[in-house]
Amino acid sequence: MSGRFIVFEGGEGVGKSTQSQLLAKALRARGLEVVTTREPGGTPGAEAIRALVLASVGPTWSVRAEALLFAAARADHVETLIRPALARGAWVLCDRYLDSSRAYQGGGSGLQDADIMALHRIGSEALLPDVTVLLTLDPAEAAARVERRDEGALDRIGGRAADYHARVAAAFLRYAAEDPARFAVIAAEGAPEAVHARVLAAIGAA
Ligand code: TYD
Repeated sequence: MSGRFIVFEGGEGVGKSTQSQLLAKALRARGLEVVTTREPGGTPGAEAIRALVLASVGPTWSVRAEALLFAAARADHVETLIRPALARGAWVLCDRYLDSSRAYQGGGSGLQDADIMALHRIGSEALLPDVTVLLTLDPAEAAARVERRDEGALDRIGGRAADYHARVAAAFLRYAAEDPARFAVIAAEGAPEAVHARVLAAIGAA
């Protein structure tokens, strides 16, 4: 038996990790094995790369080097955590994945989408999620949520300018429009439980 691979995507502060936790709880209540994880990170090797790329102090990298680091973290995560979990029939819920690399290093920073996809093929044998839940939220509301959560402490990428984040948001919507079979675009306005109900309906688990 093979499990299902569900990814939550979207800009900062849209509620990805909250929705991942609510979905995990709902699926576990049905007796399913659920693995929740995140990117960059999820395994010791990938978390070590996360600490490097998101630290607000220390060395910085060109966008190409940054894309390679995200792809390397993903390769470790896919090989040592995601594929084994799917192979034993678990559901894997992941906070960010490939489309974050496409949206941030591509849409935000200007790398070619084909190059990011090539890194994904080399690093992770092009493994794609079954469903990518794209959470969308008004930028002012997202910024207010981030402010409440992090009290103004932004990581190196989260702290980039508003026009960078606008390009990221537009890129996510473009990928969803190009591949409607893989994406579920969900409005993240309102209470967490209301958004959760939309997520359950979208993945066909309501
Ligand atoms: P994180 O705190 O996990 O996300 P959020 O701010 O949504 O809670 O930070 C991850 C940051 O890394 C976020 O700014 C997006 C960025 N990122 C990339 O630029 N490329 C990638 O491939 C991934 C997975 C994340």
